[in-house]
Amino acid sequence: MKNDFSRRKFIATVAATSVVSAVAHSFPAFAQGNNQKKLAALGGTPVRPKGAIGLKWPHINDQMIENIVTTTKSGVWSRAQNANGNVANFEKDFAKQIGVNYSVGTGSGTQALSTCIEALEIGPGDEVITSPYTDMGTVSSILTSRALPVLVDLDPNSLQLDPNEIEKRINKNTKAIMPVHIMGVPADMERIMAIAKKHNLKVIEDSCQAPFARYKGKAIGTIGDLGCFSFQASKAIACGEGGAVVGNDQALMDRCYTVQNRGAARSGKNELIGPKYRMNEFEAAVLLGQLPSARERHEIRNQNANYIKAQLKGFEGLVPQKQYAGTESSSYYHYALIYNKDHFNGASRAQFLTAINAEGIGFGSYIKTGLHKEPWVDYILGLPGYQTAYSAARLKEYKDGMHLPNCDRVCDETLVSMWGSGTMLGSKDEMDSIVNAIMKVYENRDQLKSI
Ligand SMILES: Cc1ncc(COP(=O)(O)O)c(C=O)c1O
Repeated sequence: MKNDFSRRKFIATVAATSVVSAVAHSFPAFAQGNNQKKLAALGGTPVRPKGAIGLKWPHINDQMIENIVTTTKSGVWSRAQNANGNVANFEKDFAKQIGVNYSVGTGSGTQALSTCIEALEIGPGDEVITSPYTDMGTVSSILTSRALPVLVDLDPNSLQLDPNEIEKRINKNTKAIMPVHIMGVPADMERIMAIAKKHNLKVIEDSCQAPFARYKGKAIGTIGDLGCFSFQASKAIACGEGGAVVGNDQALMDRCYTVQNRGAARSGKNELIGPKYRMNEFEAAVLLGQLPSARERHEIRNQNANYIKAQLKGFEGLVPQKQYAGTESSSYYHYALIYNKDHFNGASRAQFLTAINAEGIGFGSYIKTGLHKEPWVDYILGLPGYQTAYSAARLKEYKDGMHLPNCDRVCDETLVSMWGSGTMLGSKDEMDSIVNAIMKVYENRDQLKSI
């Protein structure tokens, strides 16, 4: 029965998970017979009309607009003009909301990560272990300090760094681990922190997708030495481009402030190396208006994600991204599932995606290529700076290590996701339509290969 998850079994599973009330109206599409039996990609009636699910994004409210107008009129546009202005206020509010002692604003998530690398004095000759399955900003933050980003393979079900792979790649030059909480779902922080402690490594959490996510009683971003967030337009807290570093160690957070302030400390003394990565007062004005209601949206995304998960429980054709024990909430930057073609009559992921999109559900494949396969690898290997800082043997081994089959499979075959910041704020009916569309495609899987 493994790859014959019948509608009866599906409903039985749903009933067993006590979402019985959903059963009554979750599958109206199937009851009607007629051309619901035909995939929309082949001319049948779609489960829902085309168009985005959920709320328009980014979130806009009156407070944000008022803050922008006030800031514009004030003429105080840079944090350098007022030490207690919008940026400083946002840093305080954000730290409080996340539950951490200190926060420093930056111009992007990439800048926040880069600030941490510089503040921890990681540079040429050093190595940082991170994920190939992330935004280029993660890797770029290591490269801009001319350190070596060592990419290790994923747990293909959680899409997170596989701790076993991390241990294998630590050497005497390794200075830090940069776990990425991909999709806003927590990585296996217990094991990562244990590895870091054992090898005396720093941990910089790339929490860019994960504001408010919680793991074992702590907010994501506050478990390692430093955590970083992105407020780029598609993120759960958004101001166009923006970011923040958070941490509990005052001295280290002061260094982060100094680094992002092009090396100048709060005292005005020019002390360290640093670019100018300052958040500006307009970005903070938007964020200050958006932050008070952001947690409410986080809760709704979690309710919706849990609802879909309960509906799909036991279905092996499309399995929600694995969450590690101790995960209390996730940010769902994307709602991700693992596609198993064996349960869809052998149809490729591309065929499944064509079918489900025709049903009105905007699933995609998100990251198309692991970062280990991008041209930057050969570029840095050809740079005199890297050739001087690392031995030829190390650079050869580095290049040979860019063989990450789990990541490749995730990118090429198994990952199916739906961007979540706006989508996961949808109504229950919209969540039902997602599940209905999945089951419709599943029930008509014999048609998939003709797409
Ligand atoms: C996991 C991850 N890391 C880093 C970044 C970089 O953040 P930003 O785009 O704000 O520079 C992003 C943004 O997409 C991200 O998703």
